[in-house]
Amino acid sequence: MLMQADSPFLESVERRRPGGSMRAYVARTLPHHSAIVVSNRAPHEPRPEGGFARGAGGVVTALLTLAEVAAADWVCCARNDAERKLVEQQGDTWNAPLLRSETRLHYVSPTPEQYEQYYSVISNPVLWFIQHYLWDLAHQPIINGRIHRAWKNGYVAVNRQVADKVIAVGRQVQHRPLVMVHDYQLYLVPRMVREQLPGAIIQHFIHIPWPTPQYWKVLPREMRTAILEGLLGCDIVGFQSSLDVRNFLMTCEENAGLQVDERERAVLIDGRVVYARPYPISIDVASTTRLAFSHGVMVEERKLRDWRPKRLIVRIDRTDPSKNIVRGFLAYEKLLLHHPDLKGEIQFWAFLQPSRQDVAVYRTYLRRVRQVAARINAQHGGKGWMPIRLEFGENVRKAIAALKNFDVLLVNPVYDGLNLVVKEGALVNRAEGMIVLSENAGAHEELQPHVLSINPFDIESTSESIYEGLMMAGEERRKRNEAARKVVKTNDISRWITRQVQDIRDLVSTPGLRAG
Ligand code: G6P
Repeated sequence: MLMQADSPFLESVERRRPGGSMRAYVARTLPHHSAIVVSNRAPHEPRPEGGFARGAGGVVTALLTLAEVAAADWVCCARNDAERKLVEQQGDTWNAPLLRSETRLHYVSPTPEQYEQYYSVISNPVLWFIQHYLWDLAHQPIINGRIHRAWKNGYVAVNRQVADKVIAVGRQVQHRPLVMVHDYQLYLVPRMVREQLPGAIIQHFIHIPWPTPQYWKVLPREMRTAILEGLLGCDIVGFQSSLDVRNFLMTCEENAGLQVDERERAVLIDGRVVYARPYPISIDVASTTRLAFSHGVMVEERKLRDWRPKRLIVRIDRTDPSKNIVRGFLAYEKLLLHHPDLKGEIQFWAFLQPSRQDVAVYRTYLRRVRQVAARINAQHGGKGWMPIRLEFGENVRKAIAALKNFDVLLVNPVYDGLNLVVKEGALVNRAEGMIVLSENAGAHEELQPHVLSINPFDIESTSESIYEGLMMAGEERRKRNEAARKVVKTNDISRWITRQVQDIRDLVSTPGLRAG
């Protein structure tokens, strides 16, 4: 049986493992395997002025760590003109830096039309909206010829190209391929790879929520079946939470009529067993802590001290409709209405990263975010005081400075796979700040007793929870913060990796579980 997440053996492995030896640990645990990480995004993006910038966000950091410790090759898509040009100039495979070592980066280069249909029509918004329950179903989506064409000519075509590249790399590597596919853009890859590399170990990790079987029925049968069959080409499918695992098993049973073993959390298909497991993703505690005390972050903190109000509410998010930024502002407006004494001494710093602006609904959402913030500022601000400080940009040092200094961190997504900002905030905050967290964020499962839980749709109670967070007694804050920090320190990124590696090891080393 695959190892339980709370196994004492696992804990002892993690305790014995000193920081830098994760790579040796993975090599020892999975000898004779050559890992291949597969994702839509490359870990680095070409800069317009030349050179590379590390891709933004927690997911990239997690995948960089994974590729580093697994000494993996990496297959990804050229997503824009800059990347396509590089591939044209330099060929589709080159060495690229990870954290300390290098990887062989293998690019797939879909045409701009194919990429647009795969990314901007099917992945975002269709799949992303389904998986975050974002459709206003009385009106949207309308599955028309455009979506059917984008599925076939975009999503299926790009998944095919990625799978072909993985197969080619898998045939060249020294040992048995261990293919680790990531996220909703690439659901069809596992089955395509399995057909050509039957001996490979294949895992898919899904970073976003897995909704109920009923909600998947928004998609035409042919699409949702292809997604399930694609994923069931895996040996293990990984999710962020145990709720996602349960929803996945139910989806296999209800929507595909497959035999599911709920105790084993496994699906039987074509005489094979596919395991579903929760592996909540996390942050690198050591490097995030180092960053929090770095010179660059101190500089940002000095700048922050120049304008910091007495009470500081912070949010850090991509401008994604799933993040629920507008309702967050409305809840804050309620706070100002119910507690006018806070006016002048409080500020809500929304530090946002514009996201997916090639997708119309994301552009509209960003406009709405700006409008609502401007209205609240005009209506409630004045005399040199601005209720909301709306700032756009990608600056990890500034983000960490904000997280070190919040009195309240608002993380109120409609639904969210996990949400790494919460974990960063819990780890680095030095202001005895409280976290107000949506019960629909994956991180809620781990952090629930130590945060203020909210229903993200309820702006009245969100406003009350923000107030409660601001006013909470010092002793209670300290207790909660300490407990939340401990959860993050225990379940850090190495645990995310160790659990997956351990399950793969159990799979390959237990006779009958998976042919070697
Ligand atoms: C989420 C998804 C990732 C995605 C990231 C950034 O975390 O789970 O797959 O890469 O957002 O989104 P983008 O569309 O800019 O890659």
